[in-house]
Amino acid sequence: MSKKTLLVLLLSLVLLALAACGGGGDTTEQPPAGGEDVAAIGDAENGERLFSQATIGANNAPGCITCHSLEPDVVIVGPSQAGLATRAQTRVAGMSAADYIHQSIVEPNAYVVEPFAEGLMYQNYGTDLTEQEINDLVAYTLTLE
Ligand code: HEC
Repeated sequence: MSKKTLLVLLLSLVLLALAACGGGGDTTEQPPAGGEDVAAIGDAENGERLFSQATIGANNAPGCITCHSLEPDVVIVGPSQAGLATRAQTRVAGMSAADYIHQSIVEPNAYVVEPFAEGLMYQNYGTDLTEQEINDLVAYTLTLE
């Protein structure tokens, strides 16, 4: 085999590999409902924007920042979200931080943080927000270590 043939062969292999990994773009993957991949498919930058809005979602619900400070130990209505990503890992045994935060948004009473009262957090984000918006919020809050 000549050097040239070998080179062509190698190049074709590289191109094949590239096509196999990247090419696609036409896949119709559904985002998992709060699985391990949430942080990966959420857009943390958009999540940060959503988190700091005064109102959020289809029904202009109160925004997260109206109840949750980002300063450590500052309580507005709910707990400060400083360090949330770290706390979220151990809140519920066997539940990942991403799953826990996702659940906290769509089903706030599933785990009620002491010493706060059940039902204080807005209850309808699960229907007011799109799955993408929720995933973006999860991706953002996972950066609050
Ligand atoms: C009306 C006030 C209020 C709003 C608005 C609110 N929360 Fe909460 N949130 C609370 C309270 C109170 C708690 C603690 C009691 C509980 O667990 O339900 C809480 C708990 C949480 C927790 C669990 C924190 C921990 O330390 O385990 C997360 C995560 C959370 N909220 C995220 C959000 C996000 C994201 C938004 C915006 C989409 C939001 N919250 C909007 C009041 C609020």
